[in-house]
Amino acid sequence: MPSITFIYADGTEKQVDAPVGLSVMEIAQKNDIDPIEGACGGSLACATCHLYVHPDWWGKALGDEDSITEEEEDMLDLAFDIRDKSRLSCQIQMTEDLDGMIVALPGADVDWAA
Ligand code: FES
Repeated sequence: MPSITFIYADGTEKQVDAPVGLSVMEIAQKNDIDPIEGACGGSLACATCHLYVHPDWWGKALGDEDSITEEEEDMLDLAFDIRDKSRLSCQIQMTEDLDGMIVALPGADVDWAA
């Protein structure tokens, strides 16, 4: 089973099982990762699933796309403390390639999110 490590704003980490096919937002919800709320259920209408993706997984997390979609960019503008490595986690589908992925929650003091 692939896994993801979430880094909280206070620096603590939590590694969780990450079933292929679920979105990273759904995986966060299943594991009670605050503050990933996912209020809109993944329909790009809330930005409560915002997090930072570690650069080592950034490209893989884009899937078949070359870049973030315009719709995701627009919604990200509404999120708290956006940085270069910001994504909406409902738009990241878990794959075997993302096994071991490191993500951080908004406000986390990680130097790789820029
Ligand atoms: Fe609402 Fe991701 S869950 S935009």
